[in-house]
Amino acid sequence: MVEKQFVPKYKELDFYSKQKRIALRNCGRINPERIEEYIWRQGYEALGKVLTSMDPDAVIEEVVTSGLRGRGGGGFPTGLKWKFAKQSPGAKKFVICNADEGDPGAFMDRSILEGDPHALIEGMIIAGYAMGADEGYIYVRAEYPLAIKRLRIAIEQAEALGLLGEDIFSSGFDFKLQIKEGAGAFVCGEETALMASIEGHRGMPRPRPPFPAQRGLWDKPSNINNVETFANVPQILLQGGEWFASIGTEKSKGTKVFALTGKIKNTGLVEVPMGIKLQEIIFEIGGGISSGKEFKAVQIGGPSGGCIPSELLDLPVDYDSLLEAGAMMGSGGLVVMDSETCMVDLARFFLNFTQSESCGKCTPCREGTKRMLEILTRITEGEGQPEDIDVLESLGNTIKQTSLCGLGQTAPNPVLSTLRYFRHEYDAHIKDRKCPAGACTNLLSYYIEDNCKGCTLCKKVCPVDAISGNVKEVHLIDQEICIQCGACFEACKFSAISKG
Ligand SMILES: Cc1cc2nc3c(=O)[nH]c(=O)nc-3n(C[C@H](O)[C@H](O)[C@H](O)COP(=O)(O)O)c2cc1C
Ligand code: SF4
Ligand code: SF4
Ligand code: SF4
Repeated sequence: MVEKQFVPKYKELDFYSKQKRIALRNCGRINPERIEEYIWRQGYEALGKVLTSMDPDAVIEEVVTSGLRGRGGGGFPTGLKWKFAKQSPGAKKFVICNADEGDPGAFMDRSILEGDPHALIEGMIIAGYAMGADEGYIYVRAEYPLAIKRLRIAIEQAEALGLLGEDIFSSGFDFKLQIKEGAGAFVCGEETALMASIEGHRGMPRPRPPFPAQRGLWDKPSNINNVETFANVPQILLQGGEWFASIGTEKSKGTKVFALTGKIKNTGLVEVPMGIKLQEIIFEIGGGISSGKEFKAVQIGGPSGGCIPSELLDLPVDYDSLLEAGAMMGSGGLVVMDSETCMVDLARFFLNFTQSESCGKCTPCREGTKRMLEILTRITEGEGQPEDIDVLESLGNTIKQTSLCGLGQTAPNPVLSTLRYFRHEYDAHIKDRKCPAGACTNLLSYYIEDNCKGCTLCKKVCPVDAISGNVKEVHLIDQEICIQCGACFEACKFSAISKG
C-alpha cells in the first residue's frame, strides 16, 4: 500500500523555522535578472519614499534608530558612519560596497549579489542620498563571474527605468554606479587597501586617521559598507528603524547571515536573529554533528575568528558576547568541529592562511605571524618545546596590539582562543608527544590488535613494507619503518588496526 505523505511547509522544516530572512528575503524567490520581480517584492519602494518624502538627515536618523551595525566584520554602527561621511566637508563623495568576501568558505555576500543584486543597489543609492554622494563603486572579486554578470544586468535595468542615473524619481538627485573587479587578495577587503586597489595602486592598508569618511577614495570623503549591510537598508527605510531594532539584542540589532559548514548535518546559509544561542544554530538549525561523534568546538568569524568550546554552547550570538569569548562575528563563517579535530592543527591551518595573505607592510604581522606559524608547525610535528606556549601567547598579544591593520590585529585569534580553551591539547603535543584527536600524523602510532585475521591486505597496501606476518596469523607493524600514512588503517576490513 502506498502511504501518503504531505510535503512539509517551508516554516515547518527545522532548517528554516528558526531563521528570519531580511537580507536574504528575496534570494531564491525572484529571478535576479528581472528587475520587475524585485519591484514586485516592494523593490525600490524605499528609495521612492526616501527621495520623495525624507531629507538626508531623516534617512540617517532612521538608520541610527535601527541600530544596524556593519556586517563586514567590525560591527561599527552604520548610521553613525553615514553621519560622519555627510558631515565631512566636500562637494564630491563616494559610496563603496565591499563585495570582496575573502574569507575561505564564505558565500554570504555572493548569495546576495547573485540572488538579489537590486537590494544592494537600492541600499547604496539610499546611502548616497543620505551622505551627499553622487557616485558609487562595488568592489567585487573577479572569482565571482555570475555575481558580476548579474550586477551588470541589474545596473543596466535600474538605469533604463530611471532608478539609477540622473534625476532619480524627479528628485534632482543623481547617482551613478560602477563595478570594480578585485584580484582576490584577502587584504584588499581591508577598507584602505580596497580604496588603493580601486585607484589602481597595489592593495596595501594605510594608517588611519585619516578615516575614509574624511579622506577616502581619491582623497574624497567616502563611506564603505559590506554587501549584507546595504541589503538591510531598504527594509529598514520601508518598515522603520524601530521595527529593525525590535529584532535581536540590546546592542546587536536585526539578523545575521552565517555560512554553516564543517562536521554538521545541514550545511548552508542561515539568517538568524541576533542573540540566538549557538546551541540553536548548531543542533536545531544545523541538525547536529554529521559524523555521529561528539561536538567539540565551533570556529566563528572566518580565518581570524576564535574557537568556542562546547561549555559555551549557550552563548548568545551577538557582537559583544562573541568578542568577550575570544571570537568575533567577522563576516559570518561558522565551522563546526567534532572530537576528531585537533585544535592545535586547526590554529595552524588558519594562521597559515592569514600569514600567507599578510601584505608584509608592517613588521609585527609580517615577521610575527611567520614565527608563530613555525612554532605551531613544530608542535604538530612533535618537535614542540616547553617554552613554546608562552612564546605563542606573548607574540600573539604583541601582534594584535601593534599591527597596522585588521589582518594582523586579528590573525592570532585562532591561536589565542585555542590556547584559552584547549591548552591541554597543546600540552599533550609538547609534553607527551601525543595528538589527543589523532589528527597529527607525526604524533600517531598504528598498532595491529589481536583480532587481526591475517588477511594480508594491510601488508599489501603499506608503501614502506613496515608490516610483517603470515596468512591467517596476527600481523605486526615495525614502528621504526612506519611513516604513519594510515593506508593500512583505511584498508583493514576487520577494524584490527588502532591508532593513537
Ligand atoms: C584583512 C581584512 C579583510 C576584510 N575583508 C572584508 C570583506 O571581504 N568584506 C567586507 O565587507 N569587509 C571586509 N573587511 C572589513 C572592511 O575593512 C570594512 O570594515 C567593512 O567593509 C566595512 O563595512 P561594514 O561597516 O558594513 O561592515 C576586512 C577587513 C580586514 C582587516
Ligand atoms: S597588519 Fe599585515 S596585512 Fe595589515 S598592513 Fe601590516 S603586514 Fe599588511
Ligand atoms: S588488514 Fe587487518 S585483518 Fe588483515 S592482516 Fe592487516 S590487520 Fe590483520
Ligand atoms: S601507517 Fe602506513 S607506513 Fe605505517 S604500517 Fe600502516 S601502511 Fe605502513
